[in-house]
Amino acid sequence: KTLPDSPPPSDGPDLSMYRRHAKRRREAPDHALPASSKAPVMTTTTHDGPGGAFSSSSSSGGAAGASSSSSSAAAFYAPPPRRLHFFVRATDSKTIAIHAAADDTVAAVLAHLADCGYGRDLRLLYAGRQLQPEATVASLGLAPDSTLQLAARLRSTPHPKAWQLASHIAATAASGDAGTDSAHTLDDLVKEYIACCDPGSQHNRNDRRAKGDTGSTDRHAEDYLDIFLQSGAAIALVRLYLSDFSFSRSYAERAIRCFLSTDPATLPPNVMLVTAPVLLEFCRLLALTAGNKDSLYKSCRYTLASVLCLPLSVLGASKSPTKVIEQVLPFAREIVELVLNGLGSETMLVPRTDLEELSNFFKVLRQQVLLWMPDGSMPKNMYSRECKRTDTWVWELHEMSMNLLKRVDECLKRLEMDLSSLSSDTRGVIENQPIWVTRLHILAILTELDFISGIFEDVAHNLRFVLLAHKAPLNALVRCSKRNEHLHWLKKHKDLLCFEARRNLVLMLFSEGKDDYGELHEMLIDRSRLLDESFEYITQAKPSELHSGLFMEFKNEEATGPGVLREWFCMVSQALFSPQQVLFLPCPNDQRRFYLNGTSVVDPLHLKYFVFSGRVIGLALMHKVQVGIVLDRTLFLYLAGRSITLEDISAADPFTYASCKRILEMGAAEIDDLTLTFSRDVHTLGSRKTIELCKGGQDISVNISNREHYIDLLIKNIFVDSISDQLANFAKGFGDILANPKLREVFFGCLDLEDFDRMLGGSNNTINLKDWRSHTQYNGYKEKDRHVNWFWKAVESMTVEQQRQLLFFWTSVKYLPSEGFGGLSSKLYIYKTTESADHLPSSHTCFYRLCLPTYPSLKVMQSQLQKITQEHVSCSFGTW
Ligand SMILES: *[C@@H]1O[C@H](CO)[C@@H](O)[C@H](O)[C@H]1NC(C)=O
Ligand SMILES: *[C@@H]1O[C@H](CO)[C@@H](O)[C@H](O)[C@H]1NC(C)=O
Ligand SMILES: *[C@@H]1O[C@H](CO)[C@@H](O)[C@H](O)[C@H]1NC(C)=O
Repeated sequence: KTLPDSPPPSDGPDLSMYRRHAKRRREAPDHALPASSKAPVMTTTTHDGPGGAFSSSSSSGGAAGASSSSSSAAAFYAPPPRRLHFFVRATDSKTIAIHAAADDTVAAVLAHLADCGYGRDLRLLYAGRQLQPEATVASLGLAPDSTLQLAARLRSTPHPKAWQLASHIAATAASGDAGTDSAHTLDDLVKEYIACCDPGSQHNRNDRRAKGDTGSTDRHAEDYLDIFLQSGAAIALVRLYLSDFSFSRSYAERAIRCFLSTDPATLPPNVMLVTAPVLLEFCRLLALTAGNKDSLYKSCRYTLASVLCLPLSVLGASKSPTKVIEQVLPFAREIVELVLNGLGSETMLVPRTDLEELSNFFKVLRQQVLLWMPDGSMPKNMYSRECKRTDTWVWELHEMSMNLLKRVDECLKRLEMDLSSLSSDTRGVIENQPIWVTRLHILAILTELDFISGIFEDVAHNLRFVLLAHKAPLNALVRCSKRNEHLHWLKKHKDLLCFEARRNLVLMLFSEGKDDYGELHEMLIDRSRLLDESFEYITQAKPSELHSGLFMEFKNEEATGPGVLREWFCMVSQALFSPQQVLFLPCPNDQRRFYLNGTSVVDPLHLKYFVFSGRVIGLALMHKVQVGIVLDRTLFLYLAGRSITLEDISAADPFTYASCKRILEMGAAEIDDLTLTFSRDVHTLGSRKTIELCKGGQDISVNISNREHYIDLLIKNIFVDSISDQLANFAKGFGDILANPKLREVFFGCLDLEDFDRMLGGSNNTINLKDWRSHTQYNGYKEKDRHVNWFWKAVESMTVEQQRQLLFFWTSVKYLPSEGFGGLSSKLYIYKTTESADHLPSSHTCFYRLCLPTYPSLKVMQSQLQKITQEHVSCSFGTW
């Protein structure tokens, strides 16, 4: 008979070791563990394990054995003469009380244990020494209350070392409670234990190799942590934490915190993934005893939430989703309470860690609900009031969400009142008001509610209602959000957002530029080879290199900085979109609006140029430069991942649009007269080709009942299928610039075409001189100076195109943001210089600074300004 492979099943860890302490505890009711706890490990009464059976069989007094703490303690304190009493800690961590005759040998004790089902192949250890079988019990010189270790041959039980170490931890913790100082090593012991959990550690690899065990290590850490719980180590640590001795408390806390560590040296990541059951146990024990205000408890709960939502985290094997939800829900409810209280307070503030915890618990809960109900949405009748008794957790989760939504609604109401007390002037510059930044957590909570509303239809419905009722504060919050990866859900509600909010929403999808100069992507470009060199610099860069920002310099020019970058963007975009490049075509009725040239030759370099174009457009948006170019609706819809309908093509292809319209208005006979089939003719490079719109399309004629289908296929063919390579490369280039290319469709989905026009194209209206002047400040000059007056008179007399050139010379801004000068990042400046009147004005475009000599007359001023508004001058004369 050999040892079983795994320890005999037990109802929970044996607590007989601690009974005396438990008794003492009872005398100190303040810290006593409640006897009627639901948690299995808290069962401190009898146990029917083999230990109990053995001790009763060997005790001469005929007592009921170790069935209660008093009997085992009594057995020890009143030994009959010539009999010795000691404990044996068995491999299953049960402690067996032994009553032996003084001349019994160790072999006899082992034989006895074997009779009790512990197997034959065993050894007894005392103080780390293996006891010789022939030695008598008396010769061992055991101290009172000694505990011997019963050890199997190493290969007989899967994790003997874990059992030994865990038992040692439990015993050490128990002794610490008795005032022994050995407990100060507890955290080292726990660290050692955790290190053994890690199947990857060097130590364990050698160990396994020695035993010839190479496979099946995946459950190693889980098994180890399970042993930690079964051995009673966890409960012993919690007991010690409740100790009256403050140093004991701190030893226990240090040991428990090893499981909360974020340091991989203490807690390796692959062990962390399986710590959830241990954390859950700590949480349950601490909540029952130390209470939910206890800081160690809060740390455990916080860590439990974050560990549970790690991918691949396990909360114990084969747990059903509902079981996990039921276990986690009480803790989630606590954190919801905390958040509710925070929101209800005067300041409405909620600590960041509480938010994080809420988010993590919601994530876990939703994950489990989806496992339980794979098609997602929960039928309404499951969380109605009548169902309260049947599916408690469903009902509770729903109620938690609704309470949270109600509280957020109240907060938004308060913010709304705040806003309406502002004058319309200050309302426009909400982004600059620090107070709104401290309220962003409200948006984060809305995000959580949207997340949970995937389960509860009526939460989704009510959420929409709340947003609709509080558009103003919602917009204010979105406008001042910095970066929050999770705001995509607002795409569904983009109709409630203003342009500034939508713009901010998509700008968040770009990587955060680095301030560090050294990480910028550097370009040194020869003006005469602008496009070729820019192409090289931009296409050869890895996407990540472009995320940090650009550093741009023209060859043989000193100027650098954002002004030069703006100039470069405008010039490159104009070159790329010019008809000579045959990449894009302007729409017939709108020269600023471009779509793809469907007949551009698909050679590799062309396709690379489309990647380049996509990247340039993305970079211009990221750097907030208006390049004066806008995309056609068909291109925009493609990038948004949406389909293109007849109404969308009117700008790009008025001819096809008109013919399709006509077909839709025709009668049956008229259509038949057209003798159209499901195909179209394409002329490329002088040759003609027929393309079928569907399989066998050339033989299917268009008639009154299939004409809509024909038009759909025709549009899809012209605007998507026939240029799919070009489109895909353009879209890829754009995606490269986003922090996550997968979010391209979200990016465009959050915007209307008009928003995109404003962001990329800027304003091509005439420049508002009043706006210009009111956003200009002076240095050296005063506003009322003659020279300043002459300057503005001169500007007034210019043509619109000249004004544009002057603005470009001054700021490198070719197209103003749609808000006008107010949308620029700074005011404009006119500096007085001491240079003589034969000098031209100069500029520092980065600082929007124009340096203006004191010309003797309006006439001279006009003629000098005329010179810099000739196009070739304004492009290359600015200095930084
Ligand atoms: C901008 O508008 C002007 C007239 O206001 C027009 O001449 C010019 O072509 C427009 N620019 C573009 C790029 O369409
Ligand atoms: C479109 O591209 C083709 C092939 O590169 C070129 O021949 C054609 O001129 C371009 N179309 C226009 C209108 O520029
Ligand atoms: C239209 O053409 C389709 C395909 O050829 C044919 O199945 C359908 O019967 C036609 N309908 C009419 C009204 O002629």
